[in-house]
Amino acid sequence: MISTPSYSRAKSCGILMSRIRDIRIYGPGSGKRPHSPTLFFDKYHKQVLPEIVLIVKPAVMDILPTLDPNDLFSAKGLVVVITGGGSGIGLAITSCLSQAGAARVYILGRRLSTLQEAARSVGGAVVPVQCDITNCSSVSAAVAKIEDEIGYIDILINNAGVQGPDHKPARDAETIEDLQKILLIDPEGWQPTFAANSSAVVGVSAAFLKLLDAGNRRRGWEGGKIPLGRPRQRDITGFTDDERSSQIITVGSISGLNRFITAGLAYGASKAAAIHLSKMLTYLLAPWGIRSNVINPGVYPSSMTAGTKDNYSYMEVPAGRKGGYRDICGVVLYLVGKAGAYVNGSMENTDGGRLSVMPATY
Ligand SMILES: NC(=O)c1ccc[n+]([C@@H]2O[C@H](COP(=O)([O-])OP(=O)(O)OC[C@H]3O[C@@H](n4cnc5c(N)ncnc54)[C@H](OP(=O)(O)O)[C@@H]3O)[C@@H](O)[C@H]2O)c1
Repeated sequence: MISTPSYSRAKSCGILMSRIRDIRIYGPGSGKRPHSPTLFFDKYHKQVLPEIVLIVKPAVMDILPTLDPNDLFSAKGLVVVITGGGSGIGLAITSCLSQAGAARVYILGRRLSTLQEAARSVGGAVVPVQCDITNCSSVSAAVAKIEDEIGYIDILINNAGVQGPDHKPARDAETIEDLQKILLIDPEGWQPTFAANSSAVVGVSAAFLKLLDAGNRRRGWEGGKIPLGRPRQRDITGFTDDERSSQIITVGSISGLNRFITAGLAYGASKAAAIHLSKMLTYLLAPWGIRSNVINPGVYPSSMTAGTKDNYSYMEVPAGRKGGYRDICGVVLYLVGKAGAYVNGSMENTDGGRLSVMPATY
């Protein structure tokens, strides 16, 4: 219920007429009994303004459209770029998107043979693109190829990453000298770790912005930066039940939220930076209509976790196991599908509960 002292103010409330269920008019001193919509006079016969009460219909969602989970969590028709898409978690995402109907999945990495093997094994519309994400001209060349071939993308997944210097032994150091030695392992390894895991999140995202904007325009969205104070306009022809806008997804890690060293200090810090950069991108890209979200995996099988055990106590991973194909696919399809159209600036942890039994902030 919205109460307003005059018609003009009622109008200025900005309420759509279709949302008004009833209008009640009260005279001054009427004890809130409705009056007919006539003029009101006080005892000195001066005209006074009535109080107008608008009874607003409750906002309800239209729950009648048929809900098809296959459509809600589908990648049908999407053009996706995924860095590190040729191995481990990236390959799982590539396969998932391909199975879920993506029109094209460009997989970027340094080892062409690994990418080609991945494309062969997944089949479908997977395209290998050799690219070093820490090298600007290499990234520009990948963008130029994709721009030339298709001219837009719907989703960029910043998945590529490296592990960096291993500081795990620091947990078991018995003397201060040992601890010092372990913390000073491979100081040169920090820079490449940050280059791939943190700086490249911005570098690669920046390089693909024009194609992400083109993805928005193709879906009928007004492109570019819009002025503050009005929503982005859209021609929904062909996309009536699809409200998605272009999106950057960054694969961070629970190491970026964990105070316990699961890999290395540089790795954890570089992933914390990746997560924060992704959130900063959400804010920065809001006027441009491009979304930015994060997926933080726990332990998943890949070359990064080679040699780690398969089963865990509940105080290590409450789920008792590593993550698997369905686990990562579920999160990815939620974010890329129509189901995730309203998700922006979000962080999805897929870790079997690992963070909840560790000293972590999230
Ligand atoms: N596995 C886990 O348990 C786990 C947990 C949390 C987070 N993550 C994150 O998940 C992502 C994928 O890792 P993964 O576990 O699947 O390990 P992975 O198999 O080693 O994958 C890393 C991928 O990144 C690519 N890459 C690395 N540096 C690159 C560069 N400079 N330019 C282009 N591509 C580069 C690699 O391809 P090339 O070597 O051919 O370039 C490789 O395909 C990483 O960001 C990792 O930090 C993994």
